[in-house]
Amino acid sequence: MSSKFSKIGFILAVAGSAVGLGNAWKFPTLVGQSGGSAFILLYIILTLGVGFVIFLAELSIGKISEKDPVNAYKKLALKHKKAWSFVGFTMIGSILIVSFYTLVIGWVVKYAYLSIIGQLPSDLKSSALDFNFLISHDFLSQFICFSLVFFIVFYTVSKGIKNGIERLNVWMMPSLFILLILMLIYAMTKDGFVMALKFLFVPDFHKINISNTLEALGLAFFSLSLGVGTIITYSASLPDRTNFITSTLNIIFINLLVGLLMGLVVFTFIFEFGYDPNQEGPGFVFVSLATLFQNLGLTGHIFGTAFFVSLVFAGITSAVSMIEPSAFYLINTFKMSRKKALFFIGTLVYILGVLCILSSLDSTQFKILGMSFFELLDSFSSKIIMPLGGILVAIFVGFVIKKETLKILFKPYMKGIFFEIWYLFVRFISPLAVVAVLITKLVGFV
Ligand code: TRP
Repeated sequence: MSSKFSKIGFILAVAGSAVGLGNAWKFPTLVGQSGGSAFILLYIILTLGVGFVIFLAELSIGKISEKDPVNAYKKLALKHKKAWSFVGFTMIGSILIVSFYTLVIGWVVKYAYLSIIGQLPSDLKSSALDFNFLISHDFLSQFICFSLVFFIVFYTVSKGIKNGIERLNVWMMPSLFILLILMLIYAMTKDGFVMALKFLFVPDFHKINISNTLEALGLAFFSLSLGVGTIITYSASLPDRTNFITSTLNIIFINLLVGLLMGLVVFTFIFEFGYDPNQEGPGFVFVSLATLFQNLGLTGHIFGTAFFVSLVFAGITSAVSMIEPSAFYLINTFKMSRKKALFFIGTLVYILGVLCILSSLDSTQFKILGMSFFELLDSFSSKIIMPLGGILVAIFVGFVIKKETLKILFKPYMKGIFFEIWYLFVRFISPLAVVAVLITKLVGFV
């Protein structure tokens, strides 16, 4: 990643990284499990108060250093270069994430296939059973779909991130968006829509607690690809004279919007088909939308296929952005070829991914700390590595990089009081908020 993105290429690549299964699969699932509107409120507050602030901090590290995460910290730290460069290794978190994320894209591939052949389930109950069967019994389907996605993702990264995904993003992002809008319009004609609106937007403050707050924080990091080096890496190729403040605001807005639209559509049909949104389970998007498409006849066929296929691509552009930081690091530091770097990373991801499949199957199930290996990777990265990475990014930008250097970088796009407010947030408010959530949760555990 030594050459620069085009201006629009940068925005598309980062938006492509941000918009993915975090919005379509994680968001509805967490909203359902963690109390609807209360969770959404927390998520929006944390996205703006912590996500936005740390996003700009990561962007500064990437832009000023023009390096991969490890070498970026090494280059910019004035003292303790070695210790800081270890912080760059939080990028290993994105390798853990991509292992289960590739599997989830695999599930979407399976649903795209079912949609093409017209075999989606026609009522919500069997839809839920089918989904559970897929993750608890069907090794073969999962293995084939996971492997397929794995090869597409690594092939794309092997082409170099700019050639590999720029063209994909130009088409896929808008089509996903248009499909969602059309689905929303259809959803509005249903009784379930009002119930979904209520569930998602009428605040219900007594449902706010520390577990929800940590989940919302984890999702804010996950959804903006923060805390594990992705934004640092992409910003290393940020073209000069790009208004990165408006770009960041756009990206955050699009990301929130896609999540909310997805939530509205998914929950409309959850209510419409008479399901309990508080039901545990990771498959809301599959369970709800699959049933919807099957009930719409030919239109549903076409729509379902288009929807699941664009979701696969949205997932791929995100997965690619999880691999690039480590690849960029290996290439820079050990002068490896891209292929060789990807071979090492790929081997690890493949092994971890297959372990994820095995850990949730009834026959080969294994649990660590009471969680399946899949859940462990997910929880450990979203609730520990990413928030921790975020705190360290904020401390580094707030206390190690000189304020003057930041001022020069921000000057054309954000100055005066706005810069000072961001600086205050980056030094104190955002990291302290994250620390407070982590500690409260930890103490609650004991
Ligand atoms: N933001 C993506 C999503 O919502 C996932 C993602 C891409 C990600 N790159 C990341 C998550 C890096 C954590 C770290 O689907």
